[in-house]
Amino acid sequence: MAKMVINGVSFTAESSRTLLENLEHQGIQTEYQCRDGHCGACQCQLNSGSVQYRKAPLAYVRQGQVLTCCAIATSDVDLTIAEAKLPLKLTG
Ligand code: FES
Repeated sequence: MAKMVINGVSFTAESSRTLLENLEHQGIQTEYQCRDGHCGACQCQLNSGSVQYRKAPLAYVRQGQVLTCCAIATSDVDLTIAEAKLPLKLTG
């Protein structure tokens, strides 16, 4: 279990799930396409924390960015995803 913060809203993340799976579990809609580290569509800003990849992604990952579809949090993480749509249960 780790704490995940997205755009300032936090929740508990399951360590067996990818970042994207944790976002979806909370009802948070974000951009993705391949879900396998190939396209880079899910790339977002990692403000703090650390992740590891299940397998090395083929998409280029810019410094300070992370691919949510194939990364797993190895600590508490803070992300910024500009286009994320958060459900009311999280934003109040
Ligand atoms: S959805 Fe394609 S790299 Fe994440």
